[in-house]
Amino acid sequence: MILLIFFVLSLIKIIHSTTYRCDPTISCGCSARTTNVTSRIVGGAATADYTWGWIVSLQRSSSHACGASLLTSEYAITAAHCVYGVSDISLLSILAGTNYLYDTSVTTSQRRTITKVTIHPNYNCTTIASDIAILQFATLNVSSSSKLTFICLPKQNQDPFKNNTDLVAVGWGTTSQGRSTPSNYLQQVTIQAIA
Ligand SMILES: *[C@@H]1O[C@H](CO)[C@@H](O)[C@H](O)[C@H]1NC(C)=O
Ligand SMILES: *[C@@H]1O[C@H](CO)[C@@H](O)[C@H](O)[C@H]1NC(C)=O
Ligand SMILES: *[C@@H]1O[C@H](CO)[C@@H](O)[C@H](O)[C@H]1NC(C)=O
Ligand SMILES: *[C@@H]1O[C@H](CO)[C@@H](O)[C@H](O)[C@H]1NC(C)=O
Repeated sequence: MILLIFFVLSLIKIIHSTTYRCDPTISCGCSARTTNVTSRIVGGAATADYTWGWIVSLQRSSSHACGASLLTSEYAITAAHCVYGVSDISLLSILAGTNYLYDTSVTTSQRRTITKVTIHPNYNCTTIASDIAILQFATLNVSSSSKLTFICLPKQNQDPFKNNTDLVAVGWGTTSQGRSTPSNYLQQVTIQAIA
């Protein structure tokens, strides 16, 4: 997904930057601290520590597979294609509370094995329609020092993707076309919704 975004963006060849301001008074979205986040549309940029407290790495045999977003302390949302066809879910885990995929010295990082995967009933692996899955895991420690937050979900009938809305994409995807290994460090990039 990130790879696709970078491919599209490199065709557009526009450098665009947007300031995202975290609101510490709301219970979801970005971090509990106030921070300005500016990012470039081509190539992305490294994120500051604990800016996006809801992003977690979904891992297969401890290797990064996909990003996932925390909904609560025991559920996260990801893409169905990331977990479709996985016969042994005990190989799946999430890594939360860190920007680094493989740095075990980060004291805020927490790993949980996945106990249940629920794929959207209308997921179609040919068309990639309804590409959504919910992951369940043993409860994460979400104390204020955990640096974890939850993703905001749109209200029913609310469209968060109105034309030209500034959006931020966050993940450990590849940082250039053709690279196959993910970035070891969390990246961010701004994109605009096209209706
Ligand atoms: C964020 O940016 C605004 C405007 O550029 C500035 O006034 C404010 O001090 C910045 N806040 C932080 C925490 O950097
Ligand atoms: C998936 O979509 C294709 C193309 O529209 C369709 O032919 C197929 O029946 C769908 N599969 C399922 C399981 O719905
Ligand atoms: C959660 O983390 C905090 C800070 O590290 C710790 O004080 C607390 O005991 C932890 N809670 C649980 C249930 O592990
Ligand atoms: C969305 O915005 C683009 C650029 O401003 C514009 O060209 C396009 O017509 C808009 N689409 C709709 C459906 O309004």
